[in-house]
Amino acid sequence: MTANDRLTVAVLGPGGIGGLLAALLSKAGHRVICLAGDETARTLRTTGIQVRSGLFGDFTADVETDTELREPVDACLIAVKATALDAALTRVPPTALGDALIVPFLNGVEHPQTLRSRYRPDRVAPAVIRAESTRVAPGQIEHASPFAEIDLTGDPVPRGHLDTLAQALDAAGPTTRVLDDETATLWAKMSFLAPFALLTTHHALPLGDVRTRHREELTSLVEETAAVSRACGGPADPAQALARYDAFPPSTKSSMQRDAEAGRPLELDAIGGALLRAAERHGLSAPVTARLVQELRTAAH
Ligand SMILES: NC(=O)c1ccc[n+]([C@@H]2O[C@H](COP(=O)([O-])OP(=O)(O)OC[C@H]3O[C@@H](n4cnc5c(N)ncnc54)[C@H](OP(=O)(O)O)[C@@H]3O)[C@@H](O)[C@H]2O)c1
Repeated sequence: MTANDRLTVAVLGPGGIGGLLAALLSKAGHRVICLAGDETARTLRTTGIQVRSGLFGDFTADVETDTELREPVDACLIAVKATALDAALTRVPPTALGDALIVPFLNGVEHPQTLRSRYRPDRVAPAVIRAESTRVAPGQIEHASPFAEIDLTGDPVPRGHLDTLAQALDAAGPTTRVLDDETATLWAKMSFLAPFALLTTHHALPLGDVRTRHREELTSLVEETAAVSRACGGPADPAQALARYDAFPPSTKSSMQRDAEAGRPLELDAIGGALLRAAERHGLSAPVTARLVQELRTAAH
């Protein structure tokens, strides 16, 4: 795979993020194969993917679909929720992948290890995406945020592979850069996301209410998360995290909160659970995080 090539890209999980990226890559001229369950695969094959986006415009893109990967590709984007990852990966047999990059867009910090235990470790290239995009129905994607930014990383992955995919993604729409430090990249997102997701979901309140009515709890959570991130080799700047929350529109909700409202499974273990496991590994106490995760686990049952 080289820059300017027409790439063949598989997308496992054509939902809010996967559907948006599949449609943008297809529109940019790449061959896209969406891997999904029977019904979603049939719908996408018939209707294509319809995107509504203030940033990228409204458009429909044709994609190929299958229920399983059956041929080598240049890259396989993984865009299922963490709760669906194990089941979904059965659609991507390691033998079918060839030399492909495996690019997970999941939030969290533990899934790269899961993927590296199953696929070539030096082809697993985690990505962090900053965007808000929703699968309102199979093949119908609403991209609401006025931005879409991707950080692509992967310590053991040859730089040329990362650069080629990053160029294709960037040319297709989302601002994409390659970052050197995988741990720092994943923890930068986790440090911002975990306090925001846990507190908005726990209190069933948008960010504007959480940051005013539950400021003390938010501050404690941000400090605990920053300490764990620092111990893991990630960034730690609690003041900057709080300033970022303060800059968001007050009505902002987390995707975990939207999942809770819709009665869908929460990515609680991939975010809160992973944070607590990392704290324990480094001998750090994170009492506010532990209480919130426990209460959310209890509420989910
Ligand atoms: N959405 C965002 O704005 C956003 C932003 C940043 C990060 N993220 C992260 O990106 C990841 C994906 O989130 P999302 O919001 O895009 O999720 P989503 O809209 O729920 O999409 C997930 C997709 O996975 C598919 N899927 C589930 N189980 C599957 C299986 N066994 N085989 C094949 N496909 C399967 C679903 O198929 P069906 O369509 O058939 O149900 C759906 O299309 C999460 O880790 C999330 O935290 C999301």
